[in-house]
Amino acid sequence: MSLRSLSLRALLLLGLWQTGRRSLASAPELKEQPKKIAIVGAGIGGTAAAYYLRQEFGPGVKIDVFEPNAIGGRLATVRIGDYEYETGGAIIHPLNLHMKHFIDKLGIPPRKDVSSKMAIFDGKELTFEESDWFIVNFLRLLWRYGFNFLRMQMWVESILDKFMRIYQYQQYGYSFSSVEKLLHAMGGDSFLTLVNQTLEETMIGDGFSQVFINDVVEPITRVNYGQSVRINGFVGAVSLAGADSGLWAVDGGNKRVCSGLLYHSKSELIPAGVTSISVKVRPTKTGSTVNYYEVNYVGESGSAHSLYDIVVIATPLHQGKSDITFSSFSPPIPSHYPGRYHQTVATLVHGLLNVSYLGTTEPASDFTVSDVLTTASKGSIINSLSSLDPVHIPPGYKPGPASQTKVWKVFSPEPLTQEQLQNMFLSWDSVSETQWLAYPTYNPPQRKTPPFILHNRLYYLNAVEWAASAMEMSAISARNLALLAHHRWHGQTSKIDQEDLHTRLRGEL
Ligand SMILES: Cc1cc2nc3c(=O)[nH]c(=O)nc-3n(C[C@H](O)[C@H](O)[C@H](O)COP(=O)(O)OP(=O)(O)OC[C@H]3O[C@@H](n4cnc5c(N)ncnc54)[C@H](O)[C@@H]3O)c2cc1C
Ligand SMILES: *[C@@H]1O[C@H](CO)[C@@H](O)[C@H](O)[C@H]1NC(C)=O
Ligand SMILES: *[C@@H]1O[C@H](CO)[C@@H](O)[C@H](O)[C@H]1NC(C)=O
Repeated sequence: MSLRSLSLRALLLLGLWQTGRRSLASAPELKEQPKKIAIVGAGIGGTAAAYYLRQEFGPGVKIDVFEPNAIGGRLATVRIGDYEYETGGAIIHPLNLHMKHFIDKLGIPPRKDVSSKMAIFDGKELTFEESDWFIVNFLRLLWRYGFNFLRMQMWVESILDKFMRIYQYQQYGYSFSSVEKLLHAMGGDSFLTLVNQTLEETMIGDGFSQVFINDVVEPITRVNYGQSVRINGFVGAVSLAGADSGLWAVDGGNKRVCSGLLYHSKSELIPAGVTSISVKVRPTKTGSTVNYYEVNYVGESGSAHSLYDIVVIATPLHQGKSDITFSSFSPPIPSHYPGRYHQTVATLVHGLLNVSYLGTTEPASDFTVSDVLTTASKGSIINSLSSLDPVHIPPGYKPGPASQTKVWKVFSPEPLTQEQLQNMFLSWDSVSETQWLAYPTYNPPQRKTPPFILHNRLYYLNAVEWAASAMEMSAISARNLALLAHHRWHGQTSKIDQEDLHTRLRGEL
């Protein structure tokens, strides 16, 4: 499936990443540092925020991270037999530089590579099956879709090139006060248009064929976001980049990054759920007043509250995702913003696949496809079916053909019924189901995306998911909010919402 390699430009940026400098670090401090910061949620967003806030505000500030559930949030694993498997966020793009930086910093290796092979299922039969031979795949695709395929790679690469600018901006300490401004700084008006159009409209407008979009693009949006090509063009491009080569995962499970960042940032984990946040005014020694945020929370040892200078909300403020009351704010802050999160059910089955389910007559002992994507055309009830490798690849590991019992992961919009399972599998010895409210239901054109700044020093990290939801997006948002919180605290407006950064920083390379 993957024909491309890293662009030269991207490699240059990787170089910059190692050596980039921050002119800001030495700026004189105009104001005392904050004393206490709260972060709500210990997924990759919240823990990356802890890491970057520590970087910005130094060792003196106390950082508390609230999390009632397991560290990692939507990065989670289940144990089947002797091994663990990812049930949520699984793959990371080679140019996701923050995720790369985290594992380097934490000394966690990437998971060992396992070869993979892709096929596309239309609900009745396989319409495409990848060959072991690059040239065979290439000619088949060329035959069927002309140059659509190559053009798609170029299209994704051109978006990725602009996307990569954010790393340079952040390296130089620039931050953005809204999702729209962040997107605009990366890709100008064209990125705002991308977010406001469906992927289908965008690609048709760029001359891609409807057949190609239905046969090739939609299977990719279905496996990555459980939705059709009517998702927005930006998350669509992120999704297509997820079909590139060089994708990786974290050895031992992606959630290890979250606990690693928490530890590295010397934050305190408070195992409690935040129930409400309100503004409190307190007098100071000098006779003026100062505002604090009172965070109320409930944990195993009952309920309590604490005052903070800065608060970062790192969980979606949406129905079914969290329930936080914001009291005494003016204008009011809602507990839930408009829009819904999309359900994706991950069912992990340790068993024997019924290859006939896929409409193939190949004997199971010859069937070595690892990832079956699906089109919507003939009513497939599943979004994808993959042979799953454990989070840690043991020495000598080699995934066998479908005639062997192994772990399969099915993504579907609804839980699988017993009957559906019996149709798909000849036998099994364990089934583990996780129902995720996984990512936003994307329905462009979009009303405004939710704000990064909910109030003075109260920030909302997951607003970024309405452009695209991915581990790296949460990490980018985390760094942006740490910079934004720092600059706003110290009144350094020259590092916020600057226009034309791309042109201005070009000379700095
Ligand atoms: C099935 C699936 C597949 C995916 N595949 C990929 C992929 O391959 N690659 C990729 O990059 N991304 C993928 N994603 C998306 C990715 O997992 C998410 O974008 C990312 O993990 C979001 O991280 P987060 O920290 O922002 O939010 P979350 O991980 O949701 O973290 C929020 C945390 O806040 C906690 N919380 C909620 N309410 C409260 C409260 N009141 N008080 C305190 N804490 C609270 C929650 O318990 C949770 O731990 C996938 C997601 C799913 C579900
Ligand atoms: C997206 O479209 C909506 C409705 O058409 C419009 O109100 C909004 O301003 C647009 N947003 C952007 C970022 O272009
Ligand atoms: C395997 O799948 C085929 C096609 O859906 C179905 O006809 C058959 O009954 C299934 N086999 C078993 C044992 O369920």
